[in-house]
Order: sequence, then structure tokens, then C-alpha cells
Amino acid sequence: MFIKKSSDIPSSEITSKSLYLNRRQLITGAAIVGAAAVAGVGLSEIGFPSRVAGANAKIDGLQKSPFSTSEKQTPYKDVTNYNNFYEFSTDKYEPAGLAKDFMTRPWTVTIDGLVKKKQQLDVDAIMKMSAPEERIYRHRCVEGWSIVVPWVGFSLSELIKRADPLPKAKFVEFTTLLDPKQMPGQRVSVLKWPYVEGLRMDEAMHPLALLCFGMYGEVLPNQDGAPLRIVVPWKYGFKSAKSIVRIRFTEEQPMNTWQLSAPNEYGFYSNVNPNVDHPRWSQAKERRLGELTKRPTLMFNGYDQVASLYSGMDLKKNF
Ligand code: MTE
Repeated sequence: MFIKKSSDIPSSEITSKSLYLNRRQLITGAAIVGAAAVAGVGLSEIGFPSRVAGANAKIDGLQKSPFSTSEKQTPYKDVTNYNNFYEFSTDKYEPAGLAKDFMTRPWTVTIDGLVKKKQQLDVDAIMKMSAPEERIYRHRCVEGWSIVVPWVGFSLSELIKRADPLPKAKFVEFTTLLDPKQMPGQRVSVLKWPYVEGLRMDEAMHPLALLCFGMYGEVLPNQDGAPLRIVVPWKYGFKSAKSIVRIRFTEEQPMNTWQLSAPNEYGFYSNVNPNVDHPRWSQAKERRLGELTKRPTLMFNGYDQVASLYSGMDLKKNF
């Protein structure tokens, strides 16, 4: 987000994703088809770009959520081929390919810190804790692009309640896997690894905060944060940590990775706020992936029901 000089131009200004992909698919597609013909294998066996993650297992029994937006969903191929996932690459087009063989099983999540029930949970057990819902959320990246995604999961509060936090616990910290062998981006010190994010306890307990393990009715593709991530739709995308292995309850406000990297640019709260500019660009507008015209960005990304969490706070100071 601040690493490359090119990020001075928000990515919303750069080539339309669909245009890029169509061009890229034409080029790589032609090469792959040629190679496949020589090797005698079908396209489904080599994995074509829109299905590059290879996960694709359906999640049954999805409940509809009253929190879902009825806005047009962003095409799957855009959401799965244009990703911020610095553990794999700072180039948004690369995580899809680089995360293809990422091992998401076995996968254990450690729950610790100020809780009565410290434990290590298998991700498959977590996924069965509560009925899976489809939540169609707007998701706004701090860089000026946005997506509408049918995520799958359930409220993070379901897991937190089971962990039984102590009254002293005021914050929840989320940590991503540290595994430079599998995650080539971690071999470079672009960020301090592992990636860490945090929420205040009342934010984490808000029913909109989603513990997420799927999208578009299937398990999460690796590049979108498999096997388990959070999605906090009223905050800039970087608060929604991917591929988490630890959930820790603390008394002190955790230091999040982006705040550590550039404290003048990225705060702890990071609520979507069209009235607070990023030091290097305006946050007033955004561009949906796959669309050309920009639209106004809404306060709290349009999720007004969280406003009361911040009453009395100066949201310019607490950006
Ligand atoms: N989580 C980890 N572990 N590493 C990252 O680089 N990037 C964040 C967030 N979570 C990131 C992460 C940012 S900046 C955004 S915008 C979203 O993931 C992007 O999620 P998506 O690729 O599924 O759209």
C-alpha cells in the first residue's frame, strides 16, 4: 500500500481489472492451451485463471443474512485475481498464482491471552461451530477500489463467546501464518511479519464482523485468505486479516502491521471515512472492480449501524 512508488497512484486509477484480465487471459490462455495440447491434458486439469485457486469445494446449507446488500456482486474472477496479500506478493495480480499450492490443512488456530478457555482449534471444527451464512458485503480497500462479495461464515462473536474472554480483555488481535517457505513475500522485509491486525472488543463482537471461510458458495480461495480470515465491512480492507492462526485477547490496544509501517498513513481504527483523506490521496470516491466510473464512498462504507460504537470519538484523530 505504500511500498512501491507506483502506489502513489491509487490502483483505482490503473487499468480496468476486467480489461487487464481479458488481455492476460488471451495471452496466457493461448500459451496454456498450446502447452496443454502438446502435453495432452484438458484445461480443467491445468486450472484456468478464473478457477486458479483450485479449492472450489461447495459449502452446503448456507443461510441468507439480513446484513446482505442487494447491490451487484463483483465477478468472481476479479475478486480472485486482484488481491492484496503481501505474504505472497506486493503485485495484486500475483497472489492467485503464487498461493495456488498453499497448504491450508492441517490448520490450527490458537486462542489465547485474556480468555478463560485458552485452546487450539482445528479450522474444520471452527467451521462447524455455527450455521454458515452467506453475507453479501461491500468491501472497500484503502487504495480506492471496492468489491461486493458473497462471503461465507458466521459472526466472529460466536467464536469469541465460546472462548469466554475475561472482563479485562478489551481488544482482540489476529495473527496471520508465518511461513516464508510457503509465502514468498515473507522472505522480503516489506512489512514486519507476521501480519497482525486488531479490533476493539465491541467492534469484534458486533454482529457484522464476520469470521469467514468461504465466498461465492465455495471454500475460500487461497489468495483471498484461506482457510480462515475476518471480514470487517465498515473498515478499510487491510483490517480484514487473512489466513489467521492466532486470536489473542488483550488489555492493551494491539499494534497493527500497517500502523507500524506507516503510522501517519494507517491508524488502528481505519473506519471507511470519505471525510478523512489518506495523506497521499482523497478517500471521497472509489471504483468498483470491473466498473469504469467512480462512486462516492460512504461513511462506515454505508454500514451506519456501527456508528454508535464511535460516538464521542474524534474520527479525524482516530483514523
Ligand atoms: N491479510 C494479510 N495477512 N496480508 C495482507 O497483505 N491485505 C489486506 C487484507 N488482509 C492483507 C490481509 C488488504 S490491504 C486488503 S484490501 C484485503 O486483505 C484484500 O482482500 P481480498 O484480496 O480478499 O480482496
